[in-house]
Amino acid sequence: MEFRLDPMAREAARLQAASADPLCAYLYDLPALRRHVEDVVAELPERCEMFYAVKANAEAPILDALEGRVAGFEAASGGELALIRERFPETPLLFGGPGKLVSELSLALELGVELIHVESLTELERLAQLLEQSERRQGVLLRMNLATDNLPSTPLTMGGVPTPFGIDPEDLETCLTFLAHHPRIELRGFHFHLISHQLDADAQLRLLGDLFHQVEHWCEQYRLDIDQINVGGGIGINYREPSQQFDWKGFCSGLAQRLAEPRLQRYRIRFECGRYLTAPCGYYLMEVMDLKRNHGQWFAVCRGGTHHFRTPAAQNHDHPFVRLPGRGGEEEGLTHTRVSVVGQLCTPKDVLARQVEIERLAIGDMLMFTLAGAYAWNISHQNFLRHPAPIMRFIDDEEGA
Ligand SMILES: Cc1ncc(COP(=O)(O)O)c(C=O)c1O
Repeated sequence: MEFRLDPMAREAARLQAASADPLCAYLYDLPALRRHVEDVVAELPERCEMFYAVKANAEAPILDALEGRVAGFEAASGGELALIRERFPETPLLFGGPGKLVSELSLALELGVELIHVESLTELERLAQLLEQSERRQGVLLRMNLATDNLPSTPLTMGGVPTPFGIDPEDLETCLTFLAHHPRIELRGFHFHLISHQLDADAQLRLLGDLFHQVEHWCEQYRLDIDQINVGGGIGINYREPSQQFDWKGFCSGLAQRLAEPRLQRYRIRFECGRYLTAPCGYYLMEVMDLKRNHGQWFAVCRGGTHHFRTPAAQNHDHPFVRLPGRGGEEEGLTHTRVSVVGQLCTPKDVLARQVEIERLAIGDMLMFTLAGAYAWNISHQNFLRHPAPIMRFIDDEEGA
């Protein structure tokens, strides 16, 4: 993971100089994204593949940077399916996610998705009906909601607890009986996406060990002939301590050891990561418009806000940022104090960082939030108050634009 702060800062200064109003902008570092994804994929053990979960960030230049570097894309809606197919007619495509419409299942068949990750018996029934009409076959994975001893608790847990995601193992036998009567649906394996925000590589290895063990058990119990295990995404980004990121290299070497076991050699292991791939390449810039003290606390009121960058509000953290000296003079402003960074919205929830220590801050400076490339602009309530969108810059050379 690489953070090229200098070229980003140069681009920020250029944008600010060209903007009469205080600035807010997203910068995306495409060379750094390409290198990061190449590094991630290069570490993967044999028989493992990395797909990209499009929901994390579906901006066209981001998808272009990933295409050909990842094994394919995981789409979770008809919109994502159509977007990917239109842009990349040949790229392997997976279709997962809850609440699929019949029309979306039908679109998935039409667009030739490689696998559908099925969430329930009802979904299997709908798919079977569509396949009868079209006289086709379709490969599927069953998404399972498994409870295991090694399922760590993270801020976003989708599995092992009551959630709408995946199939309860109690219902597996019913699903398998249904499949036995519907040969147009070809069971290729199992899918698990049990948690997000995993920061602990050893814990993730233990979890995958449990998943492999369970799949083996089901294969024996039900005499299944399958060849795929999709272990989902969920590798986290450490927003609170950015220097302490998930040990991907260590994780992959532990995984390689596990996958060397003869009983696991028949499986292809797929990942569908989002956050871990694209968060590091994005930066959200806000210019400080006002510094004010209110009931004993300092606030930096900045251009933009959570309607552009909802990540810190969604995850309830203080998002890391660096200060870039901007229009303000170096002699002005605050020094060595605690400041809350807020945006322009009429809600006390429009906070990006609370009472964080700053060395120096002046009106006209810019705050550059790092790790803003995933679940950021695209998950934000952009129309609230109808402020304009931020400037978007996709930087695609080594020096910065
Ligand atoms: C089924 C599924 N796969 C993959 C992902 C990507 O997760 P992440 O961005 O945490 O890697 C998600 C995220 O919600 C998901 O629901």
